[in-house]
Amino acid sequence: MRGLVRLVPALLLTLGATTASAQREIKFAPYAVPSSGTIALSVRQDVPQEGAFAEVDAAVGGALRRAVTSMNYRGERDRVLDLGGVGPYERVILIGTGNEAATARILEDVGGWVGQVAARSPVKRVEILWPGSEADAGAHLAFGAELGQYRFTKYRQVAANAPVLGEGEIVVRTPAGDAAGSTYSAQWRPVATAVKFTRDLITEPASEIYPESFVERTREAFRGVANVRIEVLDVPAMEKLGMGGMLSVGKGSVRPPRLLVVRYDGGKSGTAPFAFVGKGITFDSGGVSIKPNDGMWRMKTDMSGAAAVTGAVLALAGRKAPVNAVAIAALAENMPDGGASRPGDVIRTMSGRTFEIMSTDAEGRMVLSDAVWYAQKQFKPRVVIDLATLTGAITTALGDDYAGLFSRDEQLATQLISAGEQSGEYLWRMPLHPSYAKDLESPIADIRNGAGRPMGGGAGHGAHFIGSWIESGTPWAHLDIAGMAWREADPLPTSPPGAAAFGVRVLDRYVRMTTSQ
Ligand code: BES
Ligand code: ZN
Ligand code: MN
Repeated sequence: MRGLVRLVPALLLTLGATTASAQREIKFAPYAVPSSGTIALSVRQDVPQEGAFAEVDAAVGGALRRAVTSMNYRGERDRVLDLGGVGPYERVILIGTGNEAATARILEDVGGWVGQVAARSPVKRVEILWPGSEADAGAHLAFGAELGQYRFTKYRQVAANAPVLGEGEIVVRTPAGDAAGSTYSAQWRPVATAVKFTRDLITEPASEIYPESFVERTREAFRGVANVRIEVLDVPAMEKLGMGGMLSVGKGSVRPPRLLVVRYDGGKSGTAPFAFVGKGITFDSGGVSIKPNDGMWRMKTDMSGAAAVTGAVLALAGRKAPVNAVAIAALAENMPDGGASRPGDVIRTMSGRTFEIMSTDAEGRMVLSDAVWYAQKQFKPRVVIDLATLTGAITTALGDDYAGLFSRDEQLATQLISAGEQSGEYLWRMPLHPSYAKDLESPIADIRNGAGRPMGGGAGHGAHFIGSWIESGTPWAHLDIAGMAWREADPLPTSPPGAAAFGVRVLDRYVRMTTSQ
C-alpha cells in the first residue's frame, strides 16, 4: 500500500498528458540537394553512381559510397538503410528499388518506406530527393509517405521527457516542385485521408466501434463532403424489409445491427452506381459456435470490409470522381447471448430465400446475403463488389500477399486484378466451382451457411453462398480479405504493422480505370 501511494505521484510526474501525436505535414519543393539535415533517396540495384546518390556522395567526398560498401548494401528492392552522421547530414535514408522501372507503384513504395522511417525519427524535417521527371512523381511519393507514416497512438501515453518522434514535416523535392502539390491535393490526398479513416476504424477496439458508433464515425468523416447522402436502416427498418440475415446475426448482441448506406453522386444523374458492399462484424466471437480464445482479439477487425468500402466512397467523394457510387456496410456484432441464433436455425432473408445455420461463426455471409440483395434492389448497380474478412481458409491459401478474388465475370476479374497491381493491393483469382452448390445443399432450407463437416474449399463455399444472392445479369466480385486486413510483423512499404485498410486503394484504382482518368 505504501509503495503504491509513493508510486502514483511518481508516475504522474514521468507520464505527460500527451497522447495522440500529429503526423508529419507533407510539403513540396523543387529538386535540390540540401547541404545538411535528414535526406532520403532511392537507389537502384547495385547502387549506380547516378542521380541524388551521386550528388550527395560527391558532396561528402565519397563517404556515402564507403558506407554502402561497408554494409554490403546493394539497393535491393525494399531494403532500407538508415545512416547516421554522413558528412554534414544528420541522417541519410536509402531506399532500394532493385531493377524495377520507376513506376507510380515504385514511387509509392519509396515514399512509404520513408514515411515509416520518418514516423520513428525525432528529426523535424525529412527531405525526399527525386531528380527524375516521371509524371506525378511527387504526388506518388507523397501518397506513399502519408500511408507509410500512419500510426495509431490514441491510447498511449508518452513519457514527458521522451523524444518526440514522427512530428514535423516531410518535404518532397522533385523537378515539378510545388506543382506536384496540387495534383497530390486533388487526386491522392483524399485517398490517403480515406485510408487513415479506415485504419482508425479497424484499429479501434470493439468496445468503441459497434454498429451505431461506426455510423457516427462515418457521419463525422463525411461532414462537409459534397454530393453525399447517408442513410441508415435500424432494426425496425430491417424487420420491415425482412432482412433475416442481418437480424439473425445482430440479435445475439446488446448492440443492435445497422445497415449503413453512403451514396455519392458525382456522375451524371441516373447513371447506375458502383455498389461496394462490406462485411461489418464489429466483433466476431463466433456466437454460439464460439471461437477459441487464441487470437480472438483480432476479431475486432472483422469489420474491415465495411470500413474499406466506406473509405473507398470517401476517397471517391474527396477527389470528386465523376461517378456514382454507393457503399453498403452490413454492421452487426456476433455475440452469444440468450437471444442469439443457434446452429440448425433456419433464416428467411429479404429475398425470400432461406438458409440453414451450420455454424453461427459463418456470420459474414449471413449479413451479406441481405446486403448484396438490398444493393441490387435499391440501386440497380452497374457492378456489385463485396469485401469481407470472410474465411480463415483464404489465409491458408494465399497468406498475407493476396486477397482472394471470386467472380464469374471475366472482364471484371481482369480489371480488378490489374487495379490490384497498380494500387499495390494484390488480388489472386480463386475458383467458383459448380460443386460448391452441392456442398451447401440443406435438407430443409434453400441453402446452408457451411458444409457442416470438414471438407476443404471453405473460402469458395463462402463466396458461393454470397453469390447465390446475386441475380444473373449483375456483374459481381467477392474479395475475401481475411488475410490482408491486419498486418502483424511483416509491413509492406505503404502498410505499416496493424490495420491495412485493404480495399480502399484497389477500389479507387478500379474506378479510375473504368472511367479512364
Ligand atoms: N471472421 C471470420 C474469418 C477470419 C478468420 C477472419 C481469421 C480473419 C482471420 C469468419 O467469420 C469465420 O469465422 N469464418 C469461419 C467460417 C466457417 C465457420 C465456415 C472460418 O473461417 O473458420
Ligand atoms: Zn467473421
Ligand atoms: Mn465468424
